[in-house]
Amino acid sequence: MSEGRNVKILITGGCGYIGSHTILRLLEAGHDITVIDNLTNSLPESLLRVEKLTGREVSFVEGDIADTSCLQKIFDQGNIEAVIHFAGFKAVGESVAQPLSYYRNNVSGTLNLLETMDAYGIRNLVFSSSATVYGTNPDMPLKEDLPLQATNPYGRTKQHVEQILTDLQAADARWRIALLRYFNPVGAHPSGLIGEDPQGPPNNLFPFVTQVAVGHRDRVHVFGNDYVTPDGTGVRDYIHVMDLAAGHAAALNFLAEHQGLHTWNLGTGRGYSVLEIIQAFEAASGTTIPYELVDRRPGDAPISLADPSRALYDLGWKASETLEDMCADAWRWQQNNPDGYRTKTSLPGEGPPC
Ligand code: NAD
Ligand code: UFG
Repeated sequence: MSEGRNVKILITGGCGYIGSHTILRLLEAGHDITVIDNLTNSLPESLLRVEKLTGREVSFVEGDIADTSCLQKIFDQGNIEAVIHFAGFKAVGESVAQPLSYYRNNVSGTLNLLETMDAYGIRNLVFSSSATVYGTNPDMPLKEDLPLQATNPYGRTKQHVEQILTDLQAADARWRIALLRYFNPVGAHPSGLIGEDPQGPPNNLFPFVTQVAVGHRDRVHVFGNDYVTPDGTGVRDYIHVMDLAAGHAAALNFLAEHQGLHTWNLGTGRGYSVLEIIQAFEAASGTTIPYELVDRRPGDAPISLADPSRALYDLGWKASETLEDMCADAWRWQQNNPDGYRTKTSLPGEGPPC
């Protein structure tokens, strides 16, 4: 793998929200993409839309990262040189209720992926980690070298996988690994053709707000207004999903030139409160977003803000989209697709499921 040339990349979980936007960015950069996704939280329609937008094809395999023979088939055919690993479960509350399924999918699934990659000599990996690994550390802005103290099973799966990857790279220097700690990804591609399509009620603020705006839900519940923040509501570092996508492309380029394991925060360094998000979304959409102040959500930190300076220094990457862009793009997607991707379609050239 060397910087600037086309690379064949396997994207796990590529039909999902961040994966589909990242694929679009990587196709535009000239890379070839194979996706493995078991469609537990997505529809392959997202990839059709990406193909439409880019005029390029994506090779899609409906399969599970826990299925070794499926991964082997892909690696046997593909000349895959790098893997971007998005596949996993991501709902904090669900992880508290069903920890085993989270450890099984996020940790065990990743182990299977790593063992299979290793067997094929594919040792370039970009991993989707999360700001959730910092837990409720009040040391703002959060820097990559702070101690990790996730407070829920979902976060602990990310922390465990980070540790596994650190041990793996220490044992075998041929591995090149990027741990990307996303802050709060929001927004959509500006075309309005792809975006976030939660299957079931949204857990996160942004898709909840957009669903209220489009009339699917009657009001936003604001979780707590007694935090020590300027207006009492929680403050987060929201990052446009296309900026996040660019961060993956930058991390891949970096790995082409550098060995080792590297950890980067992907955030803006700027925070907004829940009420500021609601106001910004009202302005961008011309709608009124009714809301109700309710109790805090257990486990929520008052503030979460990235120090993104390491990514700027190492990768030359910096988020550029504004909150107005995030709201306008999320609204365009939601307005154009009130029911998300809705129907399951099959892809032209799609092979049989594993
Ligand atoms: P998503 O649910 O939209 O996408 C994940 C995709 O993985 C889905 O398409 C799902 O069907 C697939 N998948 C799940 N388990 C699988 C398995 N065993 N085999 C194959 N496919 C499987 O989620 P997203 O928002 O795009 O998140 C992508 C990654 O980023 C996840 O690992 C998530 O934990 C991480 N992350 C997300 C956020 C966020 O707020 N969205 C924040 C931090 C980190
Ligand atoms: N919030 C509400 N009402 C809602 C949903 C959220 O008031 O209906 C508030 C929360 O209390 C918080 C803020 O809006 O103050 C953002 O909450 P989200 O659920 O959108 O995001 P989180 O910061 O809780 O967590 C998200 C992902 C995690 C990820 C983390 C950091 O859910 O998986 O960002 O990347 F780890």
